[in-house]
Amino acid sequence: MEIKDKVMLITGASGGIGSAISKHLGDLGAKMVLTSRDQKELKKLSSEIPNSAVISGDLTQAKDAKRIVETTVEKFGRIDVLINCAARAMFAQVEQVNLEEYRSLLELNVVAPLQLMQLVIPQMRIQGGGTILNISSLSSKKYIPKIAGYASTKYALNALSLTARQELAKDDIVVSIIRPNIVDTDFGRHTPSSEPDALRHASDGSVLPHVLTTETVAKKVAELIQSGEPEVDILEN
Ligand SMILES: NC(=O)c1ccc[n+]([C@@H]2O[C@H](COP(=O)([O-])OP(=O)(O)OC[C@H]3O[C@@H](n4cnc5c(N)ncnc54)[C@H](OP(=O)(O)O)[C@@H]3O)[C@@H](O)[C@H]2O)c1
Repeated sequence: MEIKDKVMLITGASGGIGSAISKHLGDLGAKMVLTSRDQKELKKLSSEIPNSAVISGDLTQAKDAKRIVETTVEKFGRIDVLINCAARAMFAQVEQVNLEEYRSLLELNVVAPLQLMQLVIPQMRIQGGGTILNISSLSSKKYIPKIAGYASTKYALNALSLTARQELAKDDIVVSIIRPNIVDTDFGRHTPSSEPDALRHASDGSVLPHVLTTETVAKKVAELIQSGEPEVDILEN
């Protein structure tokens, strides 16, 4: 799909990766609808992106997700692209996974993107097509100690996405996933059981060589929207 003038709803827009994707797609001429809970941060981001709008909400609340999609359609008349980027991490051995925390992770990382897909599909069908791009993680191809809680939500997202891709091909709705390796954001800190810097930083504080920049991810997202490929792994900058 061409990017210029397309209406794109992105979740997790206030985050490290979401804000880089929003800026890059905005630079390429997309009309960006930015969502997360932090309205102040979103407004700051929106001031840097021409033709963007802010609709804040908590995606673990079904009524907020519904309002976000409805308001986007009211404002712009359509949704060409949905990018599901909001998520949280979790670091704990399987034996110690806090079940309450895991349930809330499933709500944000799996149920919310699924609900948003269900909300945009009828609109995309009316329009004659669309693109849904779900941000997964390279951890969903691996079995890394202490990452299973988080990775399992991304395994679920992969299955939902690539199955929906087959189901929706007849409607010209393209569903894709992107699996980045570790990215240089505060993702690991935004969780009660955080262990962020062991993954990103060397003991001297420098960023480890395998860590991706948010700009690398943003460029790959734009390429994936254009190509419509099913899945892309990002291993290096
Ligand atoms: N960073 C990495 O190493 C890495 C690697 C591979 C994949 N990923 C994936 O990339 C995506 C973005 O990660 P990131 O590194 O940019 O993380 P981040 O900086 O922590 O951003 C997370 C985003 O999710 C939003 N969010 C959290 N809870 C929410 C809720 N209840 N309702 C609505 N929005 C909510 C946050 O906004 P508010 O707090 O304003 O609501 C924020 O915009 C995630 O899907 C993650 O799994 C990250």
